[in-house]
Amino acid sequence: MDTLGNGLKIIGSGAAIADQTLTNQDLSQIVETSDEWIQSRTGMRQRYVCSPHESLTSLGVRAGQAALEMAGLQPQDLDLIILATSTPDDLFGSAAQIQGGLGACNAFAFDITAACSGFVVGLNTAAQFLRTGVYQRILLIGGDVLSRWVDWTDRTTCVLFGDGAGAVILETQAVDNLLAFEMCTDGSMNGCLNLAYQGYPQDLTESKSIAQGTYQPIAMNGREVYRFAVARVPEIIEKVLFKAELTSADVDWLILHQANQRIMDSVGDRLNIPSEKIISNVSRYGNTSAASIPLALNEAVQAGKFKTGDLLVLAGFGAGVTWAASVLRW
Ligand code: ACO
Repeated sequence: MDTLGNGLKIIGSGAAIADQTLTNQDLSQIVETSDEWIQSRTGMRQRYVCSPHESLTSLGVRAGQAALEMAGLQPQDLDLIILATSTPDDLFGSAAQIQGGLGACNAFAFDITAACSGFVVGLNTAAQFLRTGVYQRILLIGGDVLSRWVDWTDRTTCVLFGDGAGAVILETQAVDNLLAFEMCTDGSMNGCLNLAYQGYPQDLTESKSIAQGTYQPIAMNGREVYRFAVARVPEIIEKVLFKAELTSADVDWLILHQANQRIMDSVGDRLNIPSEKIISNVSRYGNTSAASIPLALNEAVQAGKFKTGDLLVLAGFGAGVTWAASVLRW
C-alpha cells in the first residue's frame, strides 16, 4: 500500500445491476414507440429496472460490497460513505441504510443530490476529505432508481431511464491522481428537467396552513437538455483540461454521463476525441442518472482497459441544471 499523504486514488470499483431487463420491444408494448426510434435517437437497446423486491439501498449495498472486495478492504475499514442519488429510499437520506447494510460501523455516511452529475460531484467532494487528511478511505456510490419516478405513459421520457448503482473506493496516497475538477450550476434552467414536489394547501388552524403533496413524475424538455449538454459539456472538459495543463489530445479515456449516444458522439467530435477512447454502455443500461459514470467506469476496469498512468476525463450533466468534470490519472 502507498504511503498515506495528501493525494488520492481509486483502489476498487463495483456495480449492481437491477434485476429486470426492459428492452425496447417491451417499451413498445407500454407506449407508442419502436425499437427503431429509440435506437436511432438514443443508441439504447435495453435498460435494467428494479422489481418491487429491490431498492436503492439493496443496489448500493451490492455495489459497495463489490468495490470493497476489489480493494481488498473490510467494511469497517471505511471512514466515510458518500451516496450520490436523487431517488433515496428515505428522504432523510439512504447512505445511512447502506452503511448499516454493509456493516461499515466506523463510517460516517451522507447523501448528496446532484442528479446525473452526482457521481462526479461526489468524487470531487470526497477528494476534499482525503486531501485534508480527515478521512483515509471513502466509499463513493452513485445510484438511482428512476423507474419509480418516470411517467410510464410519457414516451418522451420513459424510454430513456434505467436503474442501477456503481461504486468506487478512494484512498489517500502521497501522489494526487485527481489532477483537476470543475463544477457548474445554472438554476435558471431548472424547468428543463425536474422531479418536483407539488404541495396542496391544507389548513391547520383558521389562520395557519401548510402544503402537503408528493413528487411529480420526471418532466423534461428533451431538446433543451440536448442543446445544453452538447454546448456545456465540451466547454467544461476543455476548461478542466486547461486547469490540469493538458489538452484533449492527452486524454486516454473519456467517461461521459450515459444519457444518449448522440450526445456522447457530439461531445467527442467537438473535442476531437475518437470514439475508441469514449467509454459507452448506454445501449445496455440506458440513462441510469448518478449510476451511469461508475457503471461505465467499473465495466472498463473489469475489462482491463485502463493502464497505470492513463488519463481519464469524467463528465456528468443533468437536472439542476448542473454539470461537472474531473481529470484523473489512473
Ligand atoms: N417513440 C416514438 N416517437 C417519439 C418518442 C418515442 N419514445 N419520443 C418522442 N417521439 C416523437 C415526438 O413526439 C416527436 O414527434 P413530432 O415530430 O410529431 O412532434 C418526434 O418523435 C421527435 O421528437 P424530438 O423530441 O424532437 O426527438 P429528438 O430527436 O430531440 O430526441 C430525445 C428526443 C432522445 C429525448 C433527445 O432530445 C435527448 O436525448 N435529449 C436529452 C435528454 C437527456 O439526456 N435527458 C437526461 C439528461 S440529465 C439526466 O440524466 C437526469
